[in-house]
Amino acid sequence: MTEPGTPVGAVAERATAGFRQRYGAEPAGRWAAPGRVNLIGEHTDYNDGFVLPFALPLRTVVAAAPQDGERWTVWSELADSPVEFGAAEADQPGRLTGWAAYVAGVVWALRAAGHAVPGARLAIASDVPLGSGLSSSAALEAAVLAALVDLGGLDLPAERRPRLAQRAENDYVGAPTGIMDQSAVIRCRAGHALFLDCRTESVEHIPFDLDAAGLAVLVIDSRAPHRHADGEYASRRKSCERAAAQLGVPALRDVSPDDLDAALARLDDDETRRRVRHVVTEDQRVLDTVALLRAGRVRDIGPLLTASHASMRDDFEITVPEIDTAVEAALAAGAYGARMTGGGFGGCVLALVEAAAADVVARAVVEAYAERDFAAPGTVTVLPSVGAHRT
Ligand code: GLA
Repeated sequence: MTEPGTPVGAVAERATAGFRQRYGAEPAGRWAAPGRVNLIGEHTDYNDGFVLPFALPLRTVVAAAPQDGERWTVWSELADSPVEFGAAEADQPGRLTGWAAYVAGVVWALRAAGHAVPGARLAIASDVPLGSGLSSSAALEAAVLAALVDLGGLDLPAERRPRLAQRAENDYVGAPTGIMDQSAVIRCRAGHALFLDCRTESVEHIPFDLDAAGLAVLVIDSRAPHRHADGEYASRRKSCERAAAQLGVPALRDVSPDDLDAALARLDDDETRRRVRHVVTEDQRVLDTVALLRAGRVRDIGPLLTASHASMRDDFEITVPEIDTAVEAALAAGAYGARMTGGGFGGCVLALVEAAAADVVARAVVEAYAERDFAAPGTVTVLPSVGAHRT
């Protein structure tokens, strides 16, 4: 197994070193935001439902200082050259592309909300893997947002930040994602999962002390190439919205499990029925998971995780062979439960395991991959960590 997250100090040092080298000056401060995994509640956020993510010990750190005028200069250790833009580019959604679009999108969203965003120089370092479904984009948005809010002394409490970061992604970058990722990376607490009602944005921090229970969450990076992930995500979202309209409810969250059969009978095609069944049953699985965690029955959530996976595989149809293989191998090696986490079509699987068995389960997944000639997966154990903060 690879080691868990690099200590925040190491990533922060890289951001500071990058800032000094690039700009020949000291940063005014550093702001960190983590990646996330979602324990359960997939494709429920844009249906006004429930999710239960937690923050990873892997972080993106932004070292930043103000600069005169409405200009933003951004260097990233992952890019060949820095990007510089002004208000004109920031005010035109879609004008910047690639990683810099997430930075410009935050500037745009802040300005669109009426904030006086200070010009700034930024240097970015990150341990959150890109394209693995661990919300590297939300981590970048949240760290940049925290930096600009503090540098400008802007009045933007933490509970209002996720919506703003989401607007950067939806409207500037153009990805129609829900509110989960930005909420997770901004609002999570160490040792807790974040129970979020995506309609009201109310949160409850649910104790999820894996260490104390002798448990671990093993995150398996499937390394499966993201196949058509963007188009498929958008089409799942549309089909949920169409179904809600057909059923005459504001969102699928408003269909209760008791009403599910009657609702399904009113829909005219099988595919839509499967999509709706996933969302309605998944919302209930989140509530059941929360109830078990509140009762301190952490091991007992395993079957709910596995049922969530089956629902994503069979009803929402968003898994791929590498992902299903990882889940099956983890379960066969003794995991209490396992499921894909995130938007789907690749990305990561999480498995709830005895801490002492994490290595054995990880090896079993690696072997199952080798048997099928899949590219070797990445494996890491993680603990629920803190959300965005100044560091
Ligand atoms: C992606 C999106 C989230 C959410 C998940 C699926 O991570 O960014 O908003 O919809 O997929 O649960």
